[in-house]
Amino acid sequence: MGATLKLYGVEACVFDAYGTLFDVDSAARAAQDSLAEKWQPLAELWRAKQLQYTWLRGLAGHYADFWQVTGDALDFALSTLHLEDAELRARLMNLYLALEAYPEVPGTLRRLKADGMKLAVLSNGTPAMLAAATANAGVAGLFDAVLSVEEVKVYKPHPSVYGLACERLGMAPAHICFLSSNGWDAYSAKAFGFHVVWCNRFGQAPERIPETPDAQIATLAELPDMFLA
Ligand code: LAC
Repeated sequence: MGATLKLYGVEACVFDAYGTLFDVDSAARAAQDSLAEKWQPLAELWRAKQLQYTWLRGLAGHYADFWQVTGDALDFALSTLHLEDAELRARLMNLYLALEAYPEVPGTLRRLKADGMKLAVLSNGTPAMLAAATANAGVAGLFDAVLSVEEVKVYKPHPSVYGLACERLGMAPAHICFLSSNGWDAYSAKAFGFHVVWCNRFGQAPERIPETPDAQIATLAELPDMFLA
């Protein structure tokens, strides 16, 4: 990887939340005492199903908020792995409100802010979920806007979600750099028209959907050096 590319004219960095700022595996990892060796399969299935449900609901026109979708996906995963238990479910859902931020996140956000960058979150998460996660990570005060798909009631990658960032920040896409660790989100945001840096934390293969992000980085720590006035 290596962030040699420089981006010009960027005035705001808009971050995906889950997988990008917050470690979605950290909920199941924190419940290892109950889940034992099943914590990782549970984390993977929970996340995969959560995203599938956003796309399925989107295609079918059956929007339900991300808290419900997250709970439905957890129920599917618990049932598949023969772990159904009401107390365990409640514990995991509570842990999802207090996901760990990736280690470089607070420092990177502070540095970008000090450099004069506007900062925002743009996420499938509900306002309550995003408020809890940003507060728990101690980064809530750093954002100029925390934007939820609740305002448009359709999930990523619908263009109206990305449009929300332009509308609320009062900026054209050319002044916004979008960051996501989710390849499909990064590619779709590029197709919308943002500058996009794919934080490819997990070394995933390139997606085969329209448009390609401008750059890839391994962690967000590489981001602040990518901008030129
Ligand atoms: C989000 C999901 C896509 O935060 O990670 O929007």
